[in-house]
Amino acid sequence: MKGIILAGGAGSRLYPLTLVASKQLQPVYDKPMVYYPLTTLIEGGIRELCLISTPHDLPRFKQLLGDGRAWGLTIEYREQPKPAGIAQAFLIAESFIGQDAVTLILGDNIFYGGDNFYRAFTEFKSGATIFGYHVNDPERYGVVEFDASGKAVSIEEKPASPKSNYAVPGLYIYDNEIVAIAKALKPSARGELEITAVNVEYLQRGRLHVQRLARGFAWLDAGTSSSLHDASAYVQTIEKRAGIKIGCPEEAAFRSGFLSLTQLDELVGKIPKCEYRDYLAEVVAEAKRLQK
Ligand code: DAU
Repeated sequence: MKGIILAGGAGSRLYPLTLVASKQLQPVYDKPMVYYPLTTLIEGGIRELCLISTPHDLPRFKQLLGDGRAWGLTIEYREQPKPAGIAQAFLIAESFIGQDAVTLILGDNIFYGGDNFYRAFTEFKSGATIFGYHVNDPERYGVVEFDASGKAVSIEEKPASPKSNYAVPGLYIYDNEIVAIAKALKPSARGELEITAVNVEYLQRGRLHVQRLARGFAWLDAGTSSSLHDASAYVQTIEKRAGIKIGCPEEAAFRSGFLSLTQLDELVGKIPKCEYRDYLAEVVAEAKRLQK
């Protein structure tokens, strides 16, 4: 399974913050936003990654994440010249996807809790797997409707009258058919290649699996000033209470077996003195204690 992080877009809803740094580079409490979706993929066992952003912002992402080798990953980069729709990612990344299945995650989506995605990635065989999450304001999202047996029967993008409270979060798993499906898409009324149109196509083919995410699971999107603040507050609350970090790629790479303890230890040695380093040093110390 390969992974795409889509981190482009105009970022206009976060103006003026986005005048100098793109939305997905803004801090969510103590880390850049893109660390969170990146960590979600690493925790899911995905180590071949492609990040897509604007020609203007791509150099900053490269500066931040490099080629991924330090974290036991490979990260390729591709440009999206204009925000022509989420599904355009599969056309831009066609050569990266090759013959494989692929997961797309939106660079402003933050997930926390459980092993839903890990299991979905490892159990994935074919078709498409997407998720449903109960929200208060479904009209802001793609909305999935279920029948009495729990089967998905419709998906609509930002409907004025939502048929359910289940929004579709920005993490989608597709088989290799996705490339052909994306190629056949026509732009919507707002001129975008819609991810919802992709999901409708899989639904019509009888190849769409929709998993409802359990209540204890957290999905936050950080696309507006207010939701960005909420996401920061949430991360701070959990991190302070539990003494763990959410969205820490180094730790996730270690726990997923992409980095050995020695490699993590060396990596920590290169981080300047700060709270982030202290945290990772404690992860290393604890792992050493457990080895004894
Ligand atoms: O957050 C989940 C929702 O994301 C889904 O429920 C919706 O079905 C899906 O359409 C999308 O809705 P948004 O209104 O959040 O889409 P937005 O245009 O804001 O794009 C989401 C992220 O993807 C944003 O961080 C920018 C990035 N993006 C978007 C487009 C359209 C790109 O990088 N390139 C693009 O062309």
